[in-house]
Amino acid sequence: MNNTKRNIAVLTSGGDAPGMNAALRAVVRSGIGAGFRVFAAYRGFEGLLNDDFKEFDSRSVANILSRGGTIIYTARSNEFMTKEGQQKAADILRSRDIEDLIIIGGDGSFKGGYELSKFGINVICLPATIDLDLGCTDYTIGFDTAANTAMEAIDKVRDTSSSHERCSVIEVMGRHAGYIALWTGVATGAEEILIPETNNFNLDTVITRIKISRKKGKNQYIIVNSEGIGNSNKIASEIEAATGIETRATILGYMQRGGSPTVIDRVYASVMGRVAISCLEENKKNRAIVHAKGEFMDIDLSEALEKAKTVDELYYKVAMQIIR
Ligand code: F6P
Repeated sequence: MNNTKRNIAVLTSGGDAPGMNAALRAVVRSGIGAGFRVFAAYRGFEGLLNDDFKEFDSRSVANILSRGGTIIYTARSNEFMTKEGQQKAADILRSRDIEDLIIIGGDGSFKGGYELSKFGINVICLPATIDLDLGCTDYTIGFDTAANTAMEAIDKVRDTSSSHERCSVIEVMGRHAGYIALWTGVATGAEEILIPETNNFNLDTVITRIKISRKKGKNQYIIVNSEGIGNSNKIASEIEAATGIETRATILGYMQRGGSPTVIDRVYASVMGRVAISCLEENKKNRAIVHAKGEFMDIDLSEALEKAKTVDELYYKVAMQIIR
């Protein structure tokens, strides 16, 4: 098919994730290679509403592969949440002769993209979130980097915690999703992994276990706590008051969202970007690019949104069996 002069747009939206730049680079370069003119919208859906676009050439995405964040910025837009905002965004895209939009983002961005598709824009979504909380895919851009960053930080806290014979509550990101906590908890040999999906936090039980473990001669106790569970400083002071063991909270926070993407995030994001362009070449409509059962594929966007993310049963079972 000759795509010469067919305009397409790309944006990044929601919480940034390492590897977004790699996905953008693949979209731009393979899009141009396929004959499209590629326009980047700045600051996610805000860029659509503000008509803030720039045409990219292949040099526009040079030297970004190893950079965390997103060079075209990201935002969360309230105006775009409304039907009027979505209509306005579709009108602005059409005024630029753009009928196809590639969205790199998480759950909220997929939902926004689906709403926009109801106004006739063809939307292709790439999953990018450190939370890994999209039911349609086993992989999201950024999770691998964030989990590695958190793992290294927890290892470091363990060193000092053990030297001081303390208990440590380490809070990782994931307001509604415990994937970072589950993976890093297993990877660092944490004594507790608290995640929102299973609602498995009970302060009294944790305190009892800490006391038992101290009696057995263990000189440290690492609790990996998902952001959604509760206030880590409060949990730490309650543990200290009940056990008499010095307890500190460490909140890893936004450091998990930054940093140079891992090889997995660079490569998978690049492949996903290319698959998105293939969808446009094949005139596919409203697709989500996913990685499931070891394969990259595109699925219907509305179908992608129907799949709820649950905690992986096997991983959770293994974690709970080997934790103490
Ligand atoms: O979606 C990724 C994420 O980092 C969550 O883990 C976290 O709860 C949220 O974003 C924080 O978002 P904000 O950038 O709005 O503080």
